[in-house]
Amino acid sequence: MRRAIFPGSFDPVTNGHLDIIQRGCKLFDEIIVAILVNPEKKAFFSIEERSEILTEVLQEIERGDCRVTVDSFEGLLVQYAAEKEAHAIVRGIRAISDYEYELQMALMNRRLQPRLETVFMMPAEEYSYVSSRLVKEVFHLGAQIDGLVPPLVEERMRKKDHG
Ligand code: PNS
Repeated sequence: MRRAIFPGSFDPVTNGHLDIIQRGCKLFDEIIVAILVNPEKKAFFSIEERSEILTEVLQEIERGDCRVTVDSFEGLLVQYAAEKEAHAIVRGIRAISDYEYELQMALMNRRLQPRLETVFMMPAEEYSYVSSRLVKEVFHLGAQIDGLVPPLVEERMRKKDHG
């Protein structure tokens, strides 16, 4: 039984995240999509909203026999992973520019919890430039975001923006 944690802000979840989860499902029996509770970072969606959206869009992806659940966590990722008895952390790497920061985190996490492995996965090329930050930026400036996020995310972003 191989369990992985896929941690992140998911504000909002993008098609790139979903692509990574689908790929992760080929390697793990269970993936916990873990939303970081970070009171210092101003978020677009609340943790509850992000969790609700993730739970819904995850129904649509190809999971095979992999169990995919959604949770949130505070504090150290390695501590959370230990509590969940996870074997690995999954992170998506889009470009070389992601690598430096991800390598630092992976090595710090390894120092803190040597038994926990970090697995880097590459999303499909079509998502290699997609980030939650840019999706929010172009959305707020009036651009189309279909194809970058699941339709539900776009719908919820419009609703939230227009009250
Ligand atoms: O989607 P993000 O914002 O790039 O995800 C970053 C995340 C959640 C993976 C990272 O900030 C994290 O693990 N935070 C938890 C606190 C922690 O353990 N920090 C030390 C990391 S070496």
